[in-house]
Amino acid sequence: MRFWSFIALGAVAYASPQSKPAPSCGCSVANVHVEHEGKPVGQMNEVNGIQTYISYPADKKTDYGILYLPDAFGFPLVQNRLLADSFAKAGYVVVGPDFFEGEPAPHDLANPNFDYTAWLARHPADKVDKIIENTIKYMKTTLGVKKIGAVGYCFGGRFVARFLAKDKGLDAGFTAHPSLVTNEELQAVSGPFSIGAAENDIIFTTPKRHEAEGILSKSNIPFQISLYGSTAHGFGVRGNMTNKREKYAKEEAYLQAVRWFDTWLKDI
Ligand SMILES: *[C@@H]1O[C@H](CO)[C@@H](O)[C@H](O)[C@H]1NC(C)=O
Repeated sequence: MRFWSFIALGAVAYASPQSKPAPSCGCSVANVHVEHEGKPVGQMNEVNGIQTYISYPADKKTDYGILYLPDAFGFPLVQNRLLADSFAKAGYVVVGPDFFEGEPAPHDLANPNFDYTAWLARHPADKVDKIIENTIKYMKTTLGVKKIGAVGYCFGGRFVARFLAKDKGLDAGFTAHPSLVTNEELQAVSGPFSIGAAENDIIFTTPKRHEAEGILSKSNIPFQISLYGSTAHGFGVRGNMTNKREKYAKEEAYLQAVRWFDTWLKDI
């Protein structure tokens, strides 16, 4: 009896003109992917005296925005521009300040002429904070962004945590392989927070990742920590795209972020 009513219901559903395939989440992940190469489409603009990379979604809508906080190589690095453009393609206006004020780290960090410690000291957190505060203000007032998510890689990742603290203007955040983030900063996170972690990371090390897990587990916020096997610090931006594992990890970390913002900013 049950069996036959099941078949009948199935047939009705199948024949009904209203029948549709099972609804998907409606989010944009099914239709987007991260661009690894090509010509960036965003533009550098001056915002409060800071060069800022801005990339618009196809419909030019600015209700939902992503604050893009780059790694030490900043926007001279084409992968940062392409990643920002990829988030724009997912339906967000993307705004990335050059918080190194024209002095990103050189491509070759191991160059003996580059003094990493001195460079870092020229870009302390309080100085970077001011620039990010102004960028958020610009997004809200000039661009009219209603909800802001932040993505941050390496150097920029720490600032996702700093600005996800209460009343700092962010509604959600994603970071891959954050650098120098402290436990105090993680404890202060008060909005939905997602992390893409590298298996072999000399900065966001395995013990640090475990500490982060402990801290976020005690918080009552939505959070996610995904570990990408066979990856090193930087994989979310600068992986080796001929290596299948690294290519997969970069693509998936991008989708992790898009899905996170679709859920926590757009509610889809
Ligand atoms: C990139 O990955 C491929 C495949 O694993 C490998 O053969 C190649 O040596 C790698 N390139 C670099 C620069 O590490």
